[in-house]
Amino acid sequence: MKPRKITECVSFLGAQDFDRRLFDELIPLPDGTSYNAYVVKGSEKTALIDTVDPPKLAVLMNQLNGVEKLDYLIVQHVEQDHSGSVPAVLNRYPNATVITTPKARPMLVDHLHVNPERIPTVADGETISLGNETLEFIHAPWVHWPETMLTYLREEKILFTCDFFGAHLATTELYATDKARVYEAAKRYYAEIMMPFRAMISKHLKRLDDYEIAMIAPSHGPVYDDPAFILGAYRHWVLDPPQNLVLIPYVSMHGSTQVMVDHLTASLVDRGISVKPFNLTVTDLGKLAEELVDASTIIFATPTVLAGPHPGVVSAAYLINALRPKLKYAGVIGSYGWGGKAPETVTGLVGTLKLDWFDPVMVKGLPGKEAFQALDRLAEAIAMRHQSLS
Ligand code: FEO
Repeated sequence: MKPRKITECVSFLGAQDFDRRLFDELIPLPDGTSYNAYVVKGSEKTALIDTVDPPKLAVLMNQLNGVEKLDYLIVQHVEQDHSGSVPAVLNRYPNATVITTPKARPMLVDHLHVNPERIPTVADGETISLGNETLEFIHAPWVHWPETMLTYLREEKILFTCDFFGAHLATTELYATDKARVYEAAKRYYAEIMMPFRAMISKHLKRLDDYEIAMIAPSHGPVYDDPAFILGAYRHWVLDPPQNLVLIPYVSMHGSTQVMVDHLTASLVDRGISVKPFNLTVTDLGKLAEELVDASTIIFATPTVLAGPHPGVVSAAYLINALRPKLKYAGVIGSYGWGGKAPETVTGLVGTLKLDWFDPVMVKGLPGKEAFQALDRLAEAIAMRHQSLS
């Protein structure tokens, strides 16, 4: 695609990656992704904001054919999907300088071997004039790495945000017009990338209240020409209390744990609680992450394998712990053949979340009447706790 103008002086560049299915060798990408870059042409100077993932370098280079002279290459984030093509762009424009944060400078040297003499850094709040346009740099660490910053184009009131407010969504739509689709992709992206840094994001959101924003231009997914849409969504995900929702990530080897999951699900629903079970052998982890944004309670359900939880449950618990959702309550249910310590292991895996734990319900073999009664007591205990949710 050719560069597309979003204002008289700002063009949308970059590549749509419709075929990519995995990010960081971890995150599923059902809708692909994009690597957006932006050219800002002032009356005196020209800046490029972000680049693209190196496999898409040719797309960016072709789009830059209309840019004879580049003065500044703004690096908002060093991760390679945005900065991997920085060395190639600098080769093409030998007089361009990289503008970034002091924290990003050594990272560009370490990860991409950029010549440090070409990287003057900017302080938080510092500005650069392009003539009739002014770029203001806002240090915003941990969206998604510690070196990240945002760029505010004052005269146009456009906020460039790189990963922040992004969505893994390849689309030919320039703007977030299909709001339902973009909301889902942005929520999933928030859960996977931003949720672990909720406390920092809350501060960044508060700071953005001081800016008049006409457009938000992220480096993944479409541009928000209605910024209230994504700002409101983020405020809800970050600040609102968790909801009346229980997640049950589970594995069942021979059916006993499945019977327990089915019974607990029905028992919770009977008590007015929403439940989302996730069979981890077929689950898209992005969907599980997305539901963690709103859930109050998580119940791990696992068979016992070699004295501990099933490795599929171990892997999910480790990831959930790392994502740091707003969860308040947790429990473990499952079945065993002759012994084991599955609940203790699972509890240890999510230790940083400071959860309030229900008594585990572990059953020898196939669950029967007593097991079902124990699961009903668990459902009742969850319902009692959920009454305190606002
Ligand atoms: Fe899109 Fe953290 O990179």
